[in-house]
Amino acid sequence: MILAPSILSADFLRLGETIEIINRSEADWLHLDVMDGVFVPNLSFGFPLLKQVAKVAKKPMDAHLMIVEPQKFITQFRDLGVRFLSVHYEACTHLHGIVRQIKDAGMKVGVVLNPHTPVEVLSDILDELDYVLIMSVNPGFGGQRFIPRSVDKVQRLKAIINQRKLKTLIEVDGGINLETGKLIIDAGADILVVGNSIFKTSNPEEMLQQMKTSLK
Ligand code: DX5
Ligand code: ZN
Repeated sequence: MILAPSILSADFLRLGETIEIINRSEADWLHLDVMDGVFVPNLSFGFPLLKQVAKVAKKPMDAHLMIVEPQKFITQFRDLGVRFLSVHYEACTHLHGIVRQIKDAGMKVGVVLNPHTPVEVLSDILDELDYVLIMSVNPGFGGQRFIPRSVDKVQRLKAIINQRKLKTLIEVDGGINLETGKLIIDAGADILVVGNSIFKTSNPEEMLQQMKTSLK
């Protein structure tokens, strides 16, 4: 299991300390939630902050773009050192072209599905993807409740991936804790994004460790 802590729920006044905690933990990736106030009803952070984060982050950066026209920023994310870049299916009219651009820029590419979007829509592009990110909450905010239907989506996607003998990984994001994390790993997910369950506890370091050991 790949664990990708999301810094969206961190205390931004102590962001350096949070990154250090993640650096020395067994977390695998660092999840960055970029929001534009158009695709989702919230703003998060942009390049001035991400540049500072990139300077100290030791884990591979996994950027989740909740923005319209993500193609405008592909090279900037690459230059920042982002290793994994995902764009929303619902935000890209020319998804195939954008996927190609991300790969040509040298990054691993993921496509994100909102809770209402069935996994089957990716049928004709799945071969091109390194990972699919299934949103288990409506994107825009941390700390929301896990949507149970996501378990079924993961199972359906896993079945397609296995049947076609693909190497595509499944990432799940939103409302993940020890309980929902177990359900989703059992359903076939490979990567878990976790925000509140880690950073809104009194001991994030301990929770990171616990997630890593109890969810495999
Ligand atoms: C929501 C973001 C998530 C969020 C997860 O739009 O994509 O990555 O930070 O936070 P929790 O784990 O609190 O749901
Ligand atoms: Zn995210």
